[in-house]
Amino acid sequence: MNLTVIDHPLTRHYLTVLRDQSTEPEEFRAAARRLTYTLVMEATKNVPLDTAPIQTPLEETTGYRIRDIVAVAVLRAGLGMLDAVIDLIPSVRVGFAGVQRDEETAMPMEYYFKTADLSSAHVLILEPMLATGGSLSWAVDKAKENDAVDITALCVVAAPAGVQRMYEDHPDTRIVAAAMDRDLSDQYYIRPGLGDMGDRLFGTL
Ligand code: URA
Repeated sequence: MNLTVIDHPLTRHYLTVLRDQSTEPEEFRAAARRLTYTLVMEATKNVPLDTAPIQTPLEETTGYRIRDIVAVAVLRAGLGMLDAVIDLIPSVRVGFAGVQRDEETAMPMEYYFKTADLSSAHVLILEPMLATGGSLSWAVDKAKENDAVDITALCVVAAPAGVQRMYEDHPDTRIVAAAMDRDLSDQYYIRPGLGDMGDRLFGTL
């Protein structure tokens, strides 16, 4: 498995805003969006491009255009990353993966999955909190059932347990994260982490 933890001042800055418990939902959402731009830049670093000659005002030169990219947002926290993806890649097709964490066992419980055909797409799975890895592993399973072969997960914070789980279940999936944190609490929250990402995005604390 290929794990990249982004080392960029802007990524660290916006991650700090997200970690700070005094950040209100409005600022939290903006910071999540801004941090996601930096993840998308890294995650798409090697996507294939189509080339075609184009005409500048001065002369002909080679132009480059991205191919099919599908983003799958893991509900609900992945929604906090979606605006940045759509902004940077307006042609992106978007799928949704609904999975709820059982608060006692932390096992993923599926309630919704819908996406376009993934067979020739570069698939970006938006799963901001890679804690136990159960939800992301499930989302990658579902993407593969829908013929995905080229998958990158975008995470805001990853924990060692989640990375280990992905290494065992899906060694072919790339992970791009803004931080690798220390461990998980008894309730499977990432430490130091940023709390419940969905609650903080949507003000449901
Ligand atoms: N999901 C969250 O929102 N936060 C965590 O720390 C772990 C899972």
